Amino acid sequence: KGYVVAILGATGAVGTRMIEQLAESTIPVSELRLLASPRSAGKELTFKGQRIAVTVATPDSFDGVDLVLASAGGAVSAKLLPEAVKRGAVCVDNTSHFRMDDNVPLVVPEVNPDALKDHHGIIADPNCSTIQMMMALEPVRRAFGLRRIIVSTYQAASGAGQSAIEELKTEAQAYLADEPMTASVLPVKGAAKHYPLAFNLLPQIDVFEDDGYTHEEWKMIHETKKIMLGDKNAPNIKVTATCVRVPVPIAHGESVWFEVAEGQTPTAAELRAEMAKFPGLVVQDDPAQQLYPQPQTAAGSRDTFVGRIRPDQETPGAYNLWVVADNLLKGAAWNAVQIAEELVARDLVRVPAGSAELFE
Ligand code: A2P
Repeated sequence: KGYVVAILGATGAVGTRMIEQLAESTIPVSELRLLASPRSAGKELTFKGQRIAVTVATPDSFDGVDLVLASAGGAVSAKLLPEAVKRGAVCVDNTSHFRMDDNVPLVVPEVNPDALKDHHGIIADPNCSTIQMMMALEPVRRAFGLRRIIVSTYQAASGAGQSAIEELKTEAQAYLADEPMTASVLPVKGAAKHYPLAFNLLPQIDVFEDDGYTHEEWKMIHETKKIMLGDKNAPNIKVTATCVRVPVPIAHGESVWFEVAEGQTPTAAELRAEMAKFPGLVVQDDPAQQLYPQPQTAAGSRDTFVGRIRPDQETPGAYNLWVVADNLLKGAAWNAVQIAEELVARDLVRVPAGSAELFE
């Protein structure tokens, strides 16, 4: 017997990849429901060679569903996932809405799979930039400890959805034709101002907080502590972040400076050796061969790629690295499907009694 699975936001940049990743996963699927907005009703998408019509997502769409993969925006998850849990469906949510909720595990399967044990029907997929940073740094944390992280991101347009990819292409064509570029999506849908991304850099991802950080930067700081330390532990890793949108369609890059535990001074080779052993992480680090991770070579892969690993020349125990991953796959759809695989493997595809009330 298989599972009845629903994908919420099935027509989006992440949702379409959830369909692909699910098709290639170990999860037995007896029925797949593709849910989106009324704009997409009736549109057909393919799963394992079978055409499936998209239907409008409503609370009743989740009747009889075992497993939900959601990526239709935070407001949609906020409204519909409690309804899904009420109907007995376990939800893996790619939006940021539930990530910091104490009742919701925030999981990168290679890093903190045990957090799944006490789930209450909703499991959150971390932010794409957080996930790839955790992949690069968890082997370091395990072997040498981790005291401090300073990260600057180089994030692809697709992190803002399908419409942002289209906008980047249209702008690039306009620029090359010597025509004016017009923007209506980036940096943030619905914001007061929009700026072109083509041939440009936008140091704003998500909305601004009162303290001058963007919400994306806030997510990297707080999600890191929740994943690496568990939400009950003292958050003793210091993290700061600057998040920048770059004119790349797919795959985020990050420049990460980090400090290991006091007294530890591993060599770059020792760090590489730990990283090479970590599942899902591929070391591409050979200056002599000009080998380093790039968005163009990482896009389409489930793996996270790390390189440029080198000690800070003036601060013992501190290092720099460069990490790249497909933000739509390991950063979103694949990590979500991987969480679902783990739930299946651990026989956790069931909603414990009393869960629905936690999200009312
Ligand atoms: P639709 O294609 O019908 O608009 P992206 O992240 O690429 O922008 O995709 C967002 C996804 O979320 C799409 O599948 C979109 O469907 C879906 N979506 C947006 N708003 C809603 C809504 N109110 N109810 C259900 N799905 C929604």
